[in-house]
Amino acid sequence: MRIAMIGTGYVGLVSGACFADFGHDVTCVDKDEKKIAALHRGEIPIYEPGLDELVATNVKAKRLDFTTDLSKPVADADAVFIAVGTPSRRGDGHADLSYVYAAAKEIAQSLSGFTVVVTKSTVPVGTGDEVERIIRETNPNADVVVASNPEFLREGAAIRDFKFPDRVVVGTSDERARKVMGDIYRPLSLNQAPLMFTARRTAEMIKYAANAFLATKITFINEIADLSEKVGANVQEVARGIGLDNRIGTKFLHAGPGFGGSCFPKDTKALIKIAQDYDVSLRIVESVLAVNENRKRAMARKVSQALGGSLRGKTIAVLGLTFKPDTDDMRDAPSIPLVTGLIDMGAKVKAFDPVGMEQAKSELPSITYCEDAYSCAQGADALVVVTEWVQFRGLDLDRLKSVMAQPVVVDLRNIYSPEDMRAAGFTYESVGRPSAQG
Ligand code: UDX
Repeated sequence: MRIAMIGTGYVGLVSGACFADFGHDVTCVDKDEKKIAALHRGEIPIYEPGLDELVATNVKAKRLDFTTDLSKPVADADAVFIAVGTPSRRGDGHADLSYVYAAAKEIAQSLSGFTVVVTKSTVPVGTGDEVERIIRETNPNADVVVASNPEFLREGAAIRDFKFPDRVVVGTSDERARKVMGDIYRPLSLNQAPLMFTARRTAEMIKYAANAFLATKITFINEIADLSEKVGANVQEVARGIGLDNRIGTKFLHAGPGFGGSCFPKDTKALIKIAQDYDVSLRIVESVLAVNENRKRAMARKVSQALGGSLRGKTIAVLGLTFKPDTDDMRDAPSIPLVTGLIDMGAKVKAFDPVGMEQAKSELPSITYCEDAYSCAQGADALVVVTEWVQFRGLDLDRLKSVMAQPVVVDLRNIYSPEDMRAAGFTYESVGRPSAQG
C-alpha cells in the first residue's frame, strides 16, 4: 500500500514509521521545512524510545521518506492520513480544526485514482462529514472516501502501542475503503488485534469516550486516595483489590498528582463542548476535569503541610517535570501548576528531569535546573517526586538524606515504600497511603 501521512507530530511520525515497518510505502509530509530537513538528517524532533532506530531502518529500506510538498505523495497514495494537530482553541476549549480543514483542502487538489482520506487526529464527532464536504467542494471529480481511524497510542510507549494495539477502530461504511484499511492493518492480525469497523461518527465518538473514561478512572482513584489517607487505608492495595475484578481492571488506577499530557485535558474539554453543542450535559466528565484541575495545585498544599504548613524561605527539590516518564513532553504537565503553587507560597524551587528540562524552561523559567537528582536535593527542605522516571526508583537513600537540609520526601507517584523510607530515616508522605516518620 502507498500511504501519505500529513503531519509529523507524535501521531503522524510514529504511525508513518510503523506503517513503513509493516512493509508499506510511506511518505510523511509536513509544512515545517526545518522539521523535514532535520528528519532527512535522521534527527527525530520528539523523544520517544525506539523511534530513531525505527525511522532510520525504514528510511534505509526506502519505505519511508519525508517532504514538505504533499502533491506527489497524495496523488500516488491508496490512503492519505490526516495527523495534524487539533489543539484547544484559545478562549472556548473547542478543538481547533483549522489545520485539519486546511489539510483536507490541500489534499483534495492532488487526489488521483481511488483514495481513502483518513482522519487520525482526534476530531469532534461530525468532522469527517466536514472533511468530506471540503474535499468534494474543492475537487468534485475525486474518487474518494473519508474514513475515521482514531489513534490510541501513549507517549513513551508509542511504538509498542501502535504495533500491539488492543484494537484498531476504522469508521467507514464503504466496502472499498474497508478493503484498503484492512490491507493496511493486515500485519496486525499476526498480533491478533481486532480490527473493528464502525460508522464514521461512531469511530470519532469512540476516541473521545475512551479518553474520557480513562481520565475518569484516574480521577476516581485519586479521590479514593485522598479518602484513604484520611481513614488510614492504602490506595495501592485498594486499587489492586478492586482492579482484580475483571469488570474494573487493574490498569489506570495509579493515584498521583492528576492527569496531564497532550490528550486527556484537551480531549475531555472538547468532549464537554461537543455535548454542550447538542444540549447534553456530561456531568461526570465535567466533574473529572474540574477535580483534576484543582488537584494539581492542591499538591503544592500537600508539600506545604509536610513541612508544617509554611513554605516561606524553604527550598523544595522537584524530581521529574514532564507529564509522564519516557517523554520530553511538558504539555499540561502537573508539574507546572504544582511548581507555580510552591513559588506562590514563598518556596525556592530546584528541579531535575532526565530529558524534559529544555522544554520545561519556557514554562517554568524562574527555577534552578540541576544536573542530577542529588545536586537537586542538595540543601533542600523537602524532595518532591512528580514524575516516576525509572531512575528515581533506585536512588541511594542514604546519600540523598545526607545532602538534604531536612529528610522530608513527598512522593506524588508512590515509587518508594513507606517502610523503606522510615527505615532510611525520612519523614515520608505519598498519595493515599499512611505517612511514615523516620
Ligand atoms: C493518552 C491515552 O492513554 C492514549 O490512549 C491516547 O491516545 C492519548 O492520551 P498519553 O497522554 O500519552 O496517552 O499518556 P497516559 O499514559 O495515558 O497518561 C496520561 C496521564 O495520566 C499522565 O499524566 C499520567 O501520569 C496519568 N496517569 C495515567 C495517572 O495519573 N494514573 C494512571 O493510572 C495512568
